[in-house]
Amino acid sequence: MDRRPIGVFDSGLGGLTAVRELTKRLPNESIIYFGDTGRVPYGPRGRDVIIKYASQDVNFLRTFDIKAILVACGTVSTTALDTLQQIYDMPLTGVVESASAKAARSTKNGRIGVIATSASIASGAYSRVIHTIDPSLTVIEKACPLFVPIVENGRFSKGDPLPELLVRDYLTELKALDVDTLVLGCTHYPLLWDVISDFMGEGVTLVSSGAEAAEYIAAELQEKDLLTDTKSAPNRYYVSDSTETFRKFASMYLQRDLDGDVEKVDIDKY
Ligand code: DGL
Repeated sequence: MDRRPIGVFDSGLGGLTAVRELTKRLPNESIIYFGDTGRVPYGPRGRDVIIKYASQDVNFLRTFDIKAILVACGTVSTTALDTLQQIYDMPLTGVVESASAKAARSTKNGRIGVIATSASIASGAYSRVIHTIDPSLTVIEKACPLFVPIVENGRFSKGDPLPELLVRDYLTELKALDVDTLVLGCTHYPLLWDVISDFMGEGVTLVSSGAEAAEYIAAELQEKDLLTDTKSAPNRYYVSDSTETFRKFASMYLQRDLDGDVEKVDIDKY
């Protein structure tokens, strides 16, 4: 048993989609979340900058006595996780492996679409992992760089013409290519679930990278006997920009009330 909290981070609020799933599965676990809201988005940035930002995020989380870190950011998972795992001697779980495994299990026609940020798609990480699982699968990847900014600004609801226009623009090609499984390779994208699902149609299974990663880390901690038996501390949330904006939107990502204090940190110090 291990009563220490689990650290979770993302470039912004998207990682809360993983927190939501983690809390559903492991209600007793305390979570320390960092959202780098002052520097979001990471997706259009180069690898060196993403590694620098992600290292600062990990350094900050490590100021707490945490037992593991869930890298709830597709962009960091695809471009910086290997480097972080070499630097830090602690369990760091990303979102690529578990989402890829779920997609490979789900597809019936062998055609998988992956949507993610520009950096994630440029890394080729999803495609590489899916092909390691099954080289016969066809993977079609598409960067959707405008999804993160609209989601961070609260524009993700069905009936809003902005997300509907962008979803049509980005996903028309994938739909025409007849994918039957679509990986939402960025943890912000589940907010667009209804709009994407409506557009792709009933026959297409959506895979949430944050949810799959949460399920994976929950199983891993259980297997290693690192879960707690009782909630020893409330969740805590940290951001690098306005706590007000975070408070305003967080419950939409969590699909419940925000369940902990929010504080601003100067991430440049880490
Ligand atoms: N949630 C991050 C991801 O999963 C958003 C990326 C960004 O900041 O551009 O990739």
